[in-house]
Amino acid sequence: PYGLCFGVSSRRFIVFSLFFLFLFLGLIMLKNNGKKAAITHHRAQLDAEPSAEQDAGTRALLREKEEEEDAPAKSGFSAYFTKLTRGRREVERPARSPASSADPPPAEDIGAGDIFIAVKTTKKFHQSRLNLLLDTWISRNMQQTYIFTDGEDEELKKKIGSHAINTNCSAAHSRQALSCKMAVEYDKFIESGKKWFCHVDDDNYVNVRTLVKLLSQYPHTQDMYLGKPSLDRPIEATERLGDNKMKPVNFWFATGGAGFCVSRGLALKMSPWASGGHFMNTAEKIRLPDDCTIGYIIESVLGVPLTRSNLFHSHLENLQQVSRSEIHKQITLSYGMFENKSNIINLKGAFPVEEDPSRFKSVHCLLYPDTPWCPPQVAF
Ligand SMILES: *[C@@H]1O[C@H](CO)[C@@H](O)[C@H](O)[C@H]1NC(C)=O
Ligand SMILES: *[C@@H]1O[C@H](CO)[C@@H](O)[C@H](O)[C@H]1NC(C)=O
Repeated sequence: PYGLCFGVSSRRFIVFSLFFLFLFLGLIMLKNNGKKAAITHHRAQLDAEPSAEQDAGTRALLREKEEEEDAPAKSGFSAYFTKLTRGRREVERPARSPASSADPPPAEDIGAGDIFIAVKTTKKFHQSRLNLLLDTWISRNMQQTYIFTDGEDEELKKKIGSHAINTNCSAAHSRQALSCKMAVEYDKFIESGKKWFCHVDDDNYVNVRTLVKLLSQYPHTQDMYLGKPSLDRPIEATERLGDNKMKPVNFWFATGGAGFCVSRGLALKMSPWASGGHFMNTAEKIRLPDDCTIGYIIESVLGVPLTRSNLFHSHLENLQQVSRSEIHKQITLSYGMFENKSNIINLKGAFPVEEDPSRFKSVHCLLYPDTPWCPPQVAF
């Protein structure tokens, strides 16, 4: 088990211990006619923890949520049970992929050229992360991929020309710097005239064929926001209304680290909150990172619900859980480190892990076996 499951097992242990404690207390209370026990039980249900199997949001949010959840004293047996059943359901439910069962007929006949794929990066990662993407999935999708970075790079310009965009945003990993880049991505998408806006990070592999398949199920003129939520409940934020007034807001958002897409129809409606300098102002108003701000504008302001897809993957989930036989059906993949262990998909591919630690080269050879640097086709 990788990733978040570590933190979970110790949490489970605490929850287990608490269960016995509650059972003990419950027995005592039962003697005292059980009234109090019922109250404790009820409160425990209200405080059910989020399913830990799921991706847990942007780094910043993760930290916040962990602090919030460091109050296991409120969880009881029923909370644990709810979590268990939900966890089991997650595992048992086959990845709901639009490509798996009978393919629904496309709502619109689109091609890769109709999609604007924004890759967010920073100068520090041009060598270590971006080159891997340029050698793999981007090499097959030069026309629709745009790289948003924060520094000049002549080498990068040689490779992708005007699709390398210096946002002039700060290279810091701050909320403001991230929102600054998202604002430029949005404006460039509107300018491009393309039908779909998709955002990914520099540690994502994008399978553009499956992305086209998913997006072609919806007309681009409809309001569509597609991605994978990073929490299993809406995020709770506070909207600053000016004159020191605050308003609590709840909304779902698709985690930026797994990639998400917005239809042109919806993107145009977002304009008053997203275009020009407005995106930065909106992000400041709720003081949340870029991907949350997108969710806020779409769900909270415009009232358009997030359409979930389990085919997007971020490095904040346990990537070992992506079924080996379904790797070619996924839309995005990722890789990362957790507690000094690499969190990567389980793929016995063209290259050993030492030569291809992210597994992206192996994925690429699986999807495009005619790539010159892929070893001659062998059955994996
Ligand atoms: C960044 O600054 C350069 C030089 O001033 C300018 O040419 C470029 O258009 C700017 N980029 C953006 C996205 O505004
Ligand atoms: C990870 O590895 C580094 C260097 O090898 C070490 O200093 C650090 O303590 C390790 N961290 C954990 C969480 O094991």
